[in-house]
Amino acid sequence: MFMKKKIIAAGLGLALAVALTGCGGDKGDTGTDLIKVGFSQLGAESGWRTANTESVQASLSKENGFDLTFVDAQQKQENQIKALRDFIQQDVDVIAFSPVVETGWDEVLQEIKDAGIPLVLVDRNVNTSVVDPYVTWIGADFKLEGTMAGQWVAANYPDAKIFELQGTMGSAPQLDREAGFDAEVGVENIIGRATGNFTRAEGKAATEAALQAYPEMNLIFAHNDDMGLGAVEAIKAAGKVPGVDIIIVTVDGVRAGMQALVDGEFNYIVECNPVFGDQIAGLIKDIMAGKSVPKTTIVVDAAFDQTITQAFVDARAY
Ligand code: AHR
Repeated sequence: MFMKKKIIAAGLGLALAVALTGCGGDKGDTGTDLIKVGFSQLGAESGWRTANTESVQASLSKENGFDLTFVDAQQKQENQIKALRDFIQQDVDVIAFSPVVETGWDEVLQEIKDAGIPLVLVDRNVNTSVVDPYVTWIGADFKLEGTMAGQWVAANYPDAKIFELQGTMGSAPQLDREAGFDAEVGVENIIGRATGNFTRAEGKAATEAALQAYPEMNLIFAHNDDMGLGAVEAIKAAGKVPGVDIIIVTVDGVRAGMQALVDGEFNYIVECNPVFGDQIAGLIKDIMAGKSVPKTTIVVDAAFDQTITQAFVDARAY
């Protein structure tokens, strides 16, 4: 149980809080203290990440009662660790972060815990020896996303020769989507894999190499839309037709991916919803108010095939 003095104070009321913390801090529109949040975003590698960042920044706004310090780690773990240490130095009320990979956080998680700062894990989870390192985690069920993609492939293309375009190696979505997908389609049907690091450019490069190495491949499972869009470019450049000669299944459902689905270049998308800034804000307010919060909040996903309409894509928020 985190017992930071400001949280205890919040439970005792504003006047006492000011007395205990020694100062009033920045005030929001309602005259109450703003909640100081340090947020380490892992990067800006994908359309999903851009939408997630916009959602977080819109929800953790001054108008909503937050004093947000937002730092982009450019997909480097060392940058995230530095940002987290800076947040400890700044004595923020709450630290939130999306870990780029699952492991390698033990030291800094222990430092956050020792500082008594509540930690909110966003989007991706960690694998750590630190006991009870975070107050709450909110994100999608990546394994289920991989399972849903795999079930669609097994039902519609049971004999496919599959190439898997992996996300950032060692990240929770790469590990879990792969495990969920592979269990459904059977590892013997996966003829090759390579990482595209969740970016369009690296997804394209990995597909170019795969077209050479595995001429028999006729289905790609990309761990996100951006890599799938890179694959579309590579397939067209090779004189083949994406969505026909090579079936493309992805995860995310950002607008560019949904457009590719309507255009017949993608065949199936399992959604990963990035718009949950309001839920993060609610969890942080509850933590600061001393209320109990769920250990886990799963953001609900859907799945889409080529029957979606252009109007549906146009109405999509991200
Ligand atoms: O962690 C969520 C994943 O990260 C998204 O599916 C992907 O697009 C992003 O880079």
